[in-house]
Amino acid sequence: ANWYDTDVPSVVLTEEQIATRTVELAQQIAANHPYRPGQPRSEDLLLVTVLKGAVMFTADLARALPIPSQLEFMAVSSYGAATKSSGVVRIVKDLDRDIRGRDVLVVEDVVDSGLTLSWLLRHLAAREPKSLEVCALLRKPEALEAEVKLDYIGFDIPNVFVVGYGLDFDERYRDLPFLGDLDPSAVERP
Ligand code: PRP
Ligand code: MN
Ligand code: MG
Repeated sequence: ANWYDTDVPSVVLTEEQIATRTVELAQQIAANHPYRPGQPRSEDLLLVTVLKGAVMFTADLARALPIPSQLEFMAVSSYGAATKSSGVVRIVKDLDRDIRGRDVLVVEDVVDSGLTLSWLLRHLAAREPKSLEVCALLRKPEALEAEVKLDYIGFDIPNVFVVGYGLDFDERYRDLPFLGDLDPSAVERP
């Protein structure tokens, strides 16, 4: 269902495509983090979700992972109401727990310029986790400005503004279950 009809005229990735790829990524991640029966809670994989865009993806990824994972949330902002990255990253909400000695997997919806992630990874590495990996559902290779190590990537997509499945334009469209193109007329409207 597309309740934004002409605002989102075409589908870039269907719900099914996203779900299938999410299961594949979950299997790759689990292969690198095998569950040891009886392992202490502190050895569970810590998913660090970058709010708000990665919420839908994290929720589905955690449920597709065949290993235990724990959820932590961090809010940073780079876009505001613009459709282009400003390169200015701001912590809106920090983690509530110490990640020292933990296996951390940062979960992102999209890596565009890479500025948000490169900043975040440097910031998190300073807290000395046992391991620090990144899983991004989407990457826009044409837009990359910063060097970032991505361990798991769902899809490479062209450098167009996409919305849905957590991705917004000025806070709207995150609730669409699929990923679509945003019509320019929707950007002009209040
Ligand atoms: C978007 C997106 C990524 C980031 C990618 O977040 O969810 O976090 O921008 O851009 P970059 O690679 O150019 O840095 P945004 O700042 O819009 O916040 P949101 O997740 O709350 O929408
Ligand atoms: Mn984001
Ligand atoms: Mg956004």
